[in-house]
Order: sequence, then C-alpha cells, then structure tokens
Amino acid sequence: MIFTHETVMKQEACLHLNLKPGALCVDGTLGGCGHARAILDAIAPEGKLIGIDQDPDAIAHAREVLQPFANRTTLVHDNFAYLPRILKQMGINAVDAVFVDLGLSFHQLMESKRGFSFTKNELLDMRMDPRTEVTAGEMLNTFTEQKLADIFFRYGEERLSRKIAGAIVQKRQESPLLTTGELAQLISGVMPARLVRTQKIHPATRVFQALRIAVNREMEKLEMFMDHAPELLNIGGRICVISFHSLEDRIVKRAIRSREKGQGCTCPRDFPQCTCGFTPSLKSITKGPITPTAEEIGKNPLSRSAKLRVAEKISFDRYHD
Ligand SMILES: C[S@@+](CC[C@H](N)C(=O)[O-])C[C@H]1O[C@@H](n2cnc3c(N)ncnc32)[C@H](O)[C@@H]1O
Repeated sequence: MIFTHETVMKQEACLHLNLKPGALCVDGTLGGCGHARAILDAIAPEGKLIGIDQDPDAIAHAREVLQPFANRTTLVHDNFAYLPRILKQMGINAVDAVFVDLGLSFHQLMESKRGFSFTKNELLDMRMDPRTEVTAGEMLNTFTEQKLADIFFRYGEERLSRKIAGAIVQKRQESPLLTTGELAQLISGVMPARLVRTQKIHPATRVFQALRIAVNREMEKLEMFMDHAPELLNIGGRICVISFHSLEDRIVKRAIRSREKGQGCTCPRDFPQCTCGFTPSLKSITKGPITPTAEEIGKNPLSRSAKLRVAEKISFDRYHD
C-alpha cells in the first residue's frame, strides 16, 4: 500500500513528552507512524507503545512499518475517544505518555480514494473509519439546509455557508450530489468571481474541511478524549496534542486549564478558601502553544497551522480510582 505522510513537529513532540527508556506510551493517531517510531526509539529497549488509529489503512501500514518493534507494540483499530475502555480491556490502569496528532494523514487526503480532497474526483465518503454510520454524501443529500449551513459555518468558518447550503438543496432536488467533483464545481459556481480571484485557497477548501469534521465527529471525539485521557496518566506522565483547527486547540486548552491550579476551582471568587474540593491535577509545560519552525513550514506547508500543547500530571484527579 502507498502510504505517504510528512510527520509534523516530531522532535518537539518527543522532547515535550519527556520520554524515558522503559516508558509505557500511547500514540492515539498512528497515521504514517512517524511519531510512533520516534517514541519507540526514545523508550527503547524495553518501553512499550499502544498505537491506535480509527483508519484500518493506518493500522495495516503500522503492522508493516512497526514490524521491527512488534514485541513492544500493540496496535488497536479504534477511536482514541475510547482510550479508557481500550486500556481497561488490556488490564492497564495508567501510562507514562499520551500523544495525539489530530486531523488527516496525507495518505487519507490524497491516496485513500475516500473523497477527502476537492482535487480528486471521487465518491463523497470522507469517513476515516469505514464503520462510521453516515458518509459525507449522505449528509449532503439528507440534512436540512439549516443543518448544512451550520456545519459549513461552525467547522469551516465559511461566510457563504447559507448560500452554499441553499445551492446544495436545490441541486439535490434534481439528482443526488455524489462526487467531490460535483461538490467542488457547485461551490465554485456559488462563489463570487471576485472572491475566487482574491482568495489564496480553493473555493471548496472550507466546506470540505467542515464536512470531514462533521462526518468523523472530530470535535466530540476530541472532547471525550480530553475529558478522560489525563486521568489515565501516571504522576509525572505527559499528554501532548498537536491540533490544526482553532476549535480543536480551544478544546485542548480548556481541558488542560480546567485541571490546572487556579483554574478548575468552582468556588465563588470572593471565597477566602476553596471549599469545592478541586485538586489541580495537570500543569502546562509551555506558556502557550508550540508552533512549527519557519524551516519546517518551508519544507512542509501543511504544517503551518499546527499547534502543540503539552501538560504534565501532577496529582491524581478527584475521580481517579
Ligand atoms: C495527522 S495523522 C497522524 C500522523 C502521524 N502522527 C505520523 O507521524 O505519521 C492523523 C491520523 O489520526 C487518525 N485519527 C484522527 N482522529 C482519530 C480518532 N479520533 N481516533 C483514532 N484515530 C484518529 C487518522 O485516521 C490519521 O491516520
């Protein structure tokens, strides 16, 4: 299988995960395994990796490229949102590092034939996990105009969301919208020529991104992950997330903050002492997010919107059992 992906902020991620030989780590987004291999090297000779991906192509690829590390690696085809269940089934209570690198791999975008890119003419699928119920095509052909407009606006920040949703509903009354080519053409037709000329990106970029996020329920899954993954860390263990969308970064930032000193306490501001029982359990390792160097962006322009956040577990959560 051809599987191309340029790993983003590999050194930065490994450095901030503070990996030690013998550590037990989770990579929740194996993709092309660039981070997974670097983690396995850093925790050698005994350290173990639990590698997760919701895309069976990524798991098949990992089985090949991580073959030299097979005795230290467990591969799991699942969604990282279910990390508590995944670890429980393996009899593991806590790990030393949890890492996720969100979004799509280059393989999914350009080689998977699942309709992620407007530069290809493929069926509108966009599911990273083929077990996901609803495809992009089904959404476009059954969702109300309002619901489609909301998706385009919320996840794609598309200013012409209503106009595009209206054009889709009109088109599907004649015949269903089936391919990426049809969708890209329809969006280009709706967009004023002046905007098409002046925008740096293809007119369909935002709608394609929004649909992909909606199909894979990416924000809900990230919220579930951020709600529980910190509970699964040993003291001194680290959680590191690379995100590519402002909504994702907001979820990560808020989840870390809610467990930090001076942030998660729900007592009224004028209470002299905390009575809500909040115990800070995480500490941010960097002040703000880490971003790729100009050199990395030059080599890999797709890395330009990446933001890396990392936090360390400093005490057990109130709900830890
Ligand atoms: C950006 S790629 C990861 C690239 C990888 N770090 C590397 O260096 O090659 C993202 C991968 O995460 C997977 N993924 C995205 N969201 C996921 C989720 N909620 N659960 C499991 N896997 C997910 C995708 O299928 C894709 O393979």
